[in-house]
Amino acid sequence: MNILVIGSGGREHAFAWKIAQSEKCDKLFVAPGNAGTAQVATNVAIGVNDFEKIGDFALENEIELVVVGPEEPLVKGIVDFFKANEKYAGLKVVGPSQKGAQLEGSKDFSKEFMFRHNIPTAGYKTFTKEALADGHAYLETLTPPFVLKADGLAAGKGVIITENLEEAKETLTDMLAHAKFGDASSRVVIEEFLDGVELSVFVLTDGKGGYVTLPEAKDYKRIGEGDKGLNTGGMGALSPVPFADEAFMAKIEEQIVKPTVNGLIEEKLDYKGFIFFGLINVGGEPKVIEYNVRMGDPETEAVMLRVKSDLVDLLVATAVGELSGQEIEFTKEAASTVMLVSGGYPESYAKGYEISGLDAVKDVVPFHAGTTVEDGKVVNVGGRVIAVSALGDTLKEALAKSNEAAKTITWTDRYYRTDIGFDIL
Ligand code: AMP
Ligand code: GLY
Repeated sequence: MNILVIGSGGREHAFAWKIAQSEKCDKLFVAPGNAGTAQVATNVAIGVNDFEKIGDFALENEIELVVVGPEEPLVKGIVDFFKANEKYAGLKVVGPSQKGAQLEGSKDFSKEFMFRHNIPTAGYKTFTKEALADGHAYLETLTPPFVLKADGLAAGKGVIITENLEEAKETLTDMLAHAKFGDASSRVVIEEFLDGVELSVFVLTDGKGGYVTLPEAKDYKRIGEGDKGLNTGGMGALSPVPFADEAFMAKIEEQIVKPTVNGLIEEKLDYKGFIFFGLINVGGEPKVIEYNVRMGDPETEAVMLRVKSDLVDLLVATAVGELSGQEIEFTKEAASTVMLVSGGYPESYAKGYEISGLDAVKDVVPFHAGTTVEDGKVVNVGGRVIAVSALGDTLKEALAKSNEAAKTITWTDRYYRTDIGFDIL
């Protein structure tokens, strides 16, 4: 079958890399893709939010399966768009409906959902501009650190954590009264701070109660070594996560995954796609920090290396509601990914530098996150540029490969963390 992946990051390169290995895949397209996806698929110059053009392209090219990578088109209703038009009836789409995507698109919605279904998460209250004074009063009742979250999508920047009460109050005012994150902060969730180690768990669910759990992962969000400095989209990831033993994963399944999957059905939220559980281990008990309605990036660049099953079979079963009874097989080997970024990221950075060394590395997969081809050369166009992924018998071995290859792939001002895994190894 012909398959279309939507997106242009490392996650989409990893999807395309895995899908291209399937015998079920005839032609593979990525819209808009990057220099890496062009090696395993055909890039199509259509933006992720241009639903009409995506739909027309899919019909013209006899696409059977569409896999939506990023959250934005999902939150904007790409799945509903296809569903609403008879001419797309033959398309199988992996991704939740717009309402289902509110699990990521609205923090308030996701908190209410968790409370309705008794899913362990931090206590919270939601405030609007009209209730700013109540918000300030509420902050005074809490013990620091204070956690403030813009309700809507804010490109990963909408969460502010501070020890200082005055700063928390000012931030709340900025978010609500001065639209610090635009519309996204017209509502703000203030929640209890949870102290623990984070991990990411991913399932594919088919909207009928069937689901499979992919390998779990841990990502490293801060720009600096030792988890210091500004938050980023993710500077590296590991899978498996050593503290996520069988007993802990069983708790996650019973207390979090099943009630979420069943809650979606109970509430008639059409959801055929990935659920990403952003979790935290608080004294041995898993709690949900957030839901995302897509795979993680860069977690996907590690996780895909461990999946042995045919991903196309699982994606099709997801889209047609036949995941129940399906198994997912993954290797016991460990996977790592180390993200090479543009100097200056996550703040401003220069683009257009030629990347060297991509063909010189061995025993790793350099997934492209932010690249394009200019005058026949591969250059950086994003903050996160190359995710250097590897498998090894142990996390240490995998990481040694990623770190070694990271030295070889270079361009002006490229930067990466050399300490991925420092906290758990
Ligand atoms: P989110 O976008 O909700 O995942 O939040 C971004 C990051 O902020 C998370 O990955 C956590 O590191 C941190 N965070 C969010 N909520 C909490 C919380 N309630 N307690 C502690 N840390 C949090
Ligand atoms: N790596 C975290 C995310 O994809 O949101």
